[in-house]
Amino acid sequence: MVERPHKPSSLPNTAAAAKSAGPQPTVDISDDNARVTARLPSGESVTVLLYGATVISWKNADGTDNLWLSEKAALDGSKPVRGGIPVVFPVFGPPPSNHATSSLPQHGFARNSRWEYLGKSTSEASAESERASTAAGGADSSSVKLDFGLYSSNLSPEARKAWPYDFGVVYSVTLGPGSLQTAVNVRNEGDKAWEFQVLFHTYLSVKDISKTHLTGLLGVTYTDKVLSVPSATESTASLPITGETDRVYKAIPQSTTSVVVDGAPRFDVVRDNLPDTVVWNPWKEKAAAMADFAPDDGYKSMICVEAGAVAEWTKLEAGDTWEGGVTYRSLL
Ligand code: BG6
Repeated sequence: MVERPHKPSSLPNTAAAAKSAGPQPTVDISDDNARVTARLPSGESVTVLLYGATVISWKNADGTDNLWLSEKAALDGSKPVRGGIPVVFPVFGPPPSNHATSSLPQHGFARNSRWEYLGKSTSEASAESERASTAAGGADSSSVKLDFGLYSSNLSPEARKAWPYDFGVVYSVTLGPGSLQTAVNVRNEGDKAWEFQVLFHTYLSVKDISKTHLTGLLGVTYTDKVLSVPSATESTASLPITGETDRVYKAIPQSTTSVVVDGAPRFDVVRDNLPDTVVWNPWKEKAAAMADFAPDDGYKSMICVEAGAVAEWTKLEAGDTWEGGVTYRSLL
């Protein structure tokens, strides 16, 4: 264990701790019950739409949004959000015709179902780091976790009919100093096994795609959906994005994929129990073909780095649960 120079001799009592902790994170639910916003005392914030439990904004203290959101994204629940972090479940991409998900829409139903807001909490790890930071005289380091739930009973009759399994997904979005974590706990609430895929379809905001590289994928096997190449091996340590890109990197050994802009690290994307990552940029023509993609040159300021478990199916036996998540670090 690392010795801290200003280690407290004993933990203060709860009231004193609350007082010494100073300002606390705030959580607001919009008047129309459509979105939840959490804000740290430092000014960092996250906003989640209950529709799709889609994170639509993750801002640094200076107001910079780390996520790209289309100017024409539908935020009224009429279609999945173009931007932010849509949640893909229980199938990624167009469902295969020979699978139980075959009647579902592309990327499943999670991103176009309304989720329940289950509440907020402060995670133990962040309480620890809060104490460590306060004790070391450091800046405020409080974090806040928002939980959302989606259950078979929340689904539209069409989705329920298309995928008639009993499930519960708890989705936790944790805002910390310089970081955001998204994690799911998937539970089979039924009496027979089923299979699923899950992915966080994260649109990261970058200043200039022509100066953007990804690292951490060297030697990884991928499927190239643009070139229709089922299996290739990444040969570059620093991957530039120079045109339409749609790749599924599979079973990645290293847990971190980094986004580097103009030679400077911009984001670390750290996976936990999520073996795969999709890298997507529609580029000019595909972006123009999407009615909800704006501005037209928006593809120059976004890159999707989508951590997930999508190359294979994850089988969940009756009563079992599965967890996976990803932490994004904003390195500005
Ligand atoms: C990516 C897929 O994850 O999502 C792409 O790899 C797809 O093939 C993209 O085009 C966007 O999908 P959608 O359904 O949001 O338009």
